Amino acid sequence: MANQLLKGKKGIIFGALDERSIAWKAAEIAVAEGAEIVLTNAPIALRMGKIAELAKQCNAIVIPADATSMTDLENLMEKSMEALGGKMDFILHSIGMSPNVRKNIPYTDTNYENFHKTLDISALSLHRVLQTAMKTDALNEWASVVALSYIAAQRTFPGYNDMADAKALMESIARSFGYQYGFAKKVRVNTVSQSPTVTTAGSGVAGFDVFLHYAEKMSPLGNASAEDCAKFCAMLFSDYTRMVTMQNLFHDGGFSNTGVSHLIVEDIQKQVTEAAQQ
Ligand SMILES: NC(=O)c1ccc[n+]([C@@H]2O[C@H](COP(=O)([O-])OP(=O)(O)OC[C@H]3O[C@@H](n4cnc5c(N)ncnc54)[C@H](O)[C@@H]3O)[C@@H](O)[C@H]2O)c1
Repeated sequence: MANQLLKGKKGIIFGALDERSIAWKAAEIAVAEGAEIVLTNAPIALRMGKIAELAKQCNAIVIPADATSMTDLENLMEKSMEALGGKMDFILHSIGMSPNVRKNIPYTDTNYENFHKTLDISALSLHRVLQTAMKTDALNEWASVVALSYIAAQRTFPGYNDMADAKALMESIARSFGYQYGFAKKVRVNTVSQSPTVTTAGSGVAGFDVFLHYAEKMSPLGNASAEDCAKFCAMLFSDYTRMVTMQNLFHDGGFSNTGVSHLIVEDIQKQVTEAAQQ
């Protein structure tokens, strides 16, 4: 149930491709909580996705921006301020893409041109968004910028490929820029490390289905859904988290602090017993 947590707040939401996208849920929740938003995505995603549907539902305009283009991002900041009638209070960076993952190129045999693209789209884009927001003075004091991450930034998950390195870089950018933006403008910058979630980006990772099941069994609260993540983002956009910045916050049902769960042990025990009986 909505509580008007974001009443009077304005923001930009990057990355809503279809109704499974975390950003799609974040847009719905932000608007239900009283915010006014601008939606954005890469021009190609706008052609392929369903963002117009979401825009109608959220009474929002859509401004195309490739997150690797400074010109697009400057235009996005300026046009968003025009559309929303002033500076903004939050930004959700929900962007990820690895050509190496898409093309199934193993990490040890990486294509470096692709690797550069992964880092540019999935990590440096956060720096670009923050830099253009700062230069265009698009954010109010105490505004909140949230980017979505994954635990592969800290621990190895082989199928995640070069996205792991991109997430590690992105989390570092959140800390480094968060320091600068905090002193300059009291703007907060955090990353949310989300459970595996069935979306276009998520499902592209090798072995995703098995991993989703594993994470569900490892997490005391189970996997966090896209909607849960959207609610957590709304809290981070709100005034209730004014003093939280430069953090990577795990939103994963307890996965990150679990060594092994009794459910996984039981599964393995079953396999060991079955193997012994053969
Ligand atoms: N799905 C998961 O399991 C999971 C887990 C943890 C973190 N995340 C992160 O959540 C974020 C959102 O992903 P999602 O799972 O909702 O999948 P998604 O595929 O719905 O969203 C990814 C978005 O990135 C956008 N994008 C790609 N290249 C872009 C560019 N050059 N400019 C602008 N936008 C671009 C896509 O158009 C898409 O809308 C990503 O950062 C992802 O890494 C996802």
